[in-house]
Amino acid sequence: MKKKVLVTRAVFDETLAYLSQHFDVTSNQADDKHSPSELAARLQGMEAALISSTDRVDDSLLARCPGLKAVCSFSVGYNHIDVAACTRHGVMATHTPGVLTDSVADFAVCLTLATCRRLTESEAMLRRGEWKGTHLKELLGMDLHHATVGICGFGRIGQVIARRLRGFEPRILYCTRHRLAPDIEREQHVAFAAKDELLRQSDIVILILPYSRETHHYIGAWELGLMKRSAVLINVARGGVVDDTALIEALKARRIWAAGLEVYENEPTFNPGLLGLSNVVLSPHIASASEPTRQAMAMTSARNCVAALTTGDPPNLLNPEVLKQQA
Ligand code: DGY
Repeated sequence: MKKKVLVTRAVFDETLAYLSQHFDVTSNQADDKHSPSELAARLQGMEAALISSTDRVDDSLLARCPGLKAVCSFSVGYNHIDVAACTRHGVMATHTPGVLTDSVADFAVCLTLATCRRLTESEAMLRRGEWKGTHLKELLGMDLHHATVGICGFGRIGQVIARRLRGFEPRILYCTRHRLAPDIEREQHVAFAAKDELLRQSDIVILILPYSRETHHYIGAWELGLMKRSAVLINVARGGVVDDTALIEALKARRIWAAGLEVYENEPTFNPGLLGLSNVVLSPHIASASEPTRQAMAMTSARNCVAALTTGDPPNLLNPEVLKQQA
C-alpha cells in the first residue's frame, strides 16, 4: 500500500503527478487556507505533508499527528516551522533553498527601483486621469545609481542582490552575523558595517534576513531614527522584521523618505495605515513568484518528501539531529 501524503495548498499538475508516482496523495487544489485544527484533522493518517509558509507547524499540531514523519515546505523561509518541536516529535523538516535565490534578488531590485522612482504612485495618478503632461518638478524620486546601499542579511540572496546591483555602481555596505573573509568582500565589492553604522550611512536599506526571535522588530522606531531623512527602506525579508506601526509613523512624519514592502506583520492582513501613504510601494509577498521558480520550489519540496519517506535522508533537511535519533 502506498504511503499517504497531504499537499496543503494548490500546487502544479507536474508536482502532483510526480508525488502520485510514489504516494497516495490528497491535495488541496482549491487552495483553501486551513486553520490549525483543520490542518491537524487533514493530517490524520498522513506520513508526510507538503506545506506552505501559511501553515504553522508547532508542538500542538505535531502532538495531534503521531504518524507524521516529514513536513516539506515549499519555501526557503521556515519561521512557520518550529524545527526544534519537529525534532522532538521525530519529524523531518525540509525547505527549498537555492531555487528561488535569483528570482527573489531580481524582485528586490525591482521593488527598490519602483520605490525610488515612485512607480506605483505615478501609475495611480495616470490611471485617475490626473496627468497633465510632464513637469520639471513633478514626481521626483531618488537615484539608485551611485547610491550607498546597505544590505542587512548577507546570505545567499543578499549576496546575489549585491551582484545584481553592481551595474548601478553603488557603494554597498552589508551587515550579517558572520562577516565574510576580506578577500571575498573585495571580490564582491562590499564593505562590512555594524548595523547602526549601516543605517546611518545608507541611502537605501534592503532587508533580507531571516525572521526569528532575535530579528523581531529588527527595524523599529529607534533604528528608523538613525536613518537618513532621504533614506528608502526595502523589506523583502519577512513580516515582523520591521515594526510596521513604527514604520508608518516614520513615513507619515517623513522621518524617512519612502519604503517598499513585500512582507507584513500578520500576513495576509496588514496594517491598514499603509494604504493611505503615498510614499510606500506595496507588493503581496510575490518575490519568488515567477513561473519557473514557483515550479522549481514545488518540485524541490516534492523531491524532499520522496527522499524523506524512501531513503530517510532528504537533501534540504533542517533538522539532521532527527536522523541521529532514528539511528
Ligand atoms: C520563501 O520561500 O520563504 C518565500 O518568502 C515564499 O514564502
